Amino acid sequence: MDKNFLWGGAVAAHQLEGAWNVDGKGVSVADIMTTAQNGHERRITDGVIPEVYYPNHQGIDFYHRYPEDIKLMAEMGFKTFRISIAWTRIFPNGDELQANETGLKFYDDLFDECRRYSIEPMITLSHFEMPYHLVTAYGGWRNRKLIDFFLKYAETVFKRYREKVKYWMTFNEINNQTDYTKAFFMVTNSGLKLTKDDPAAEQLMYQAAHYELVASALAVKMGHAINPKFKIGNMINMTPIYPLTADPDDMLMAQKAMQTRYWYTDVQANGQYPSYVMRYFERSGFNLDITSHDLAALRAGIVDYVGLSYYNSFTVQASANNPTYKFIGEATTVANPTLKASDWGWTIDPKGLRYALNWLNDRYHLPLMIVENGLGAVDKVTNDGKIHDTYRIGYLRAHVEQLKLAVDVDGVNVMGYTPWGCIDLISAGTGQMSKRYGMIYVDQDDSGHGSLKRLRKDSFYWYQRVIQTNGRVL
Ligand code: BG6
Repeated sequence: MDKNFLWGGAVAAHQLEGAWNVDGKGVSVADIMTTAQNGHERRITDGVIPEVYYPNHQGIDFYHRYPEDIKLMAEMGFKTFRISIAWTRIFPNGDELQANETGLKFYDDLFDECRRYSIEPMITLSHFEMPYHLVTAYGGWRNRKLIDFFLKYAETVFKRYREKVKYWMTFNEINNQTDYTKAFFMVTNSGLKLTKDDPAAEQLMYQAAHYELVASALAVKMGHAINPKFKIGNMINMTPIYPLTADPDDMLMAQKAMQTRYWYTDVQANGQYPSYVMRYFERSGFNLDITSHDLAALRAGIVDYVGLSYYNSFTVQASANNPTYKFIGEATTVANPTLKASDWGWTIDPKGLRYALNWLNDRYHLPLMIVENGLGAVDKVTNDGKIHDTYRIGYLRAHVEQLKLAVDVDGVNVMGYTPWGCIDLISAGTGQMSKRYGMIYVDQDDSGHGSLKRLRKDSFYWYQRVIQTNGRVL
């Protein structure tokens, strides 16, 4: 591995900061989501209801405890720490003219703390935590005005942290909304609150995604003007989609599914809409607001690198009921008989990471940054006061092995690796605390009870050695 390889860890503000209404912070879409059981979707309420428990309100209280947490990350040897800025700390409602100075100061202090240990902050601008007011007052990203609100926010933080942050990403997992039938993805990605089975959902998703892509491209251009040294990437959830068999119908189904899930990256990395998407809009009779100015903005705002999360793969099978090979999301997938799955039903597929890195490299010819990877699992503190998370070490080891093969054997340019939830935090999908990813354990249960004490898991020491040896000892 390159000596400058960026080993680290990744989190998102809303999943760990807590302090949801402190120091002028506004309500975000994450603040109106409840906890769900495994296999169920989180309930999204109409605003904050006093008697309801919202796990993100407390997070793991990183807002007040970050010096202790950053110290532990430094002890692991982190070169980089990926976190998002909570948009609602900077612009509580999203449409103010003046930024909230207390929110800006919090991130000044946080980034300084990282830099004290030579940890490079890597920042996602929008990670599932847009201001809720932009949903209620403007209808979320279906509204073109959101582009200006986002750019104002981006400009504010680009200028403020010009000398403190070099690596940026625009929208977290922008392609998750491919599954427009899931209320969770629609709200987290685009602030689209839709009733179940809304017939307009698909078209709205494409419209919202278009405005986000324009906002992303304009932000890339603006960021480069503010500091030419900035490296600004996109961020996608990379889930390779395999055909169940070598039947050409299954092959076509998989190819079409990949197009449906990754056209967002085609736009962000190639600067233009791929022809298959334009034809799909035509065939579907979608009347989208896409102007020639927008298309010029997309061309001028190509990302510097492709950021990706990688957890699992999907498998698809063609069916006579689906002659156009339409892919929506998980509902259109089948089980892969060659792979095991996590307790939350996510396939475990380390080789899929090598496959994914090669696929992205072949298609985009840009540096890749793995900004999430990990195993959500239940951990137990044993009588010796430790957490022997051998399953997590096994998962991470197998993935880093494949990452090394992609780099050393296949020649893929990977900038770094930041496993997800390096410290236990609130699950985005379920709101659970018990779905843990961290190398640092946090004493808190699904109802928010616990001392919030931090403990080093076995994976903490394992990862420390991986970083120390630059990936030689796994
Ligand atoms: C990614 C998100 O989808 O996966 C994170 O960027 C999220 O925010 C992570 O936490 C793991 O998903 P989950 O649902 O297990 O928290």
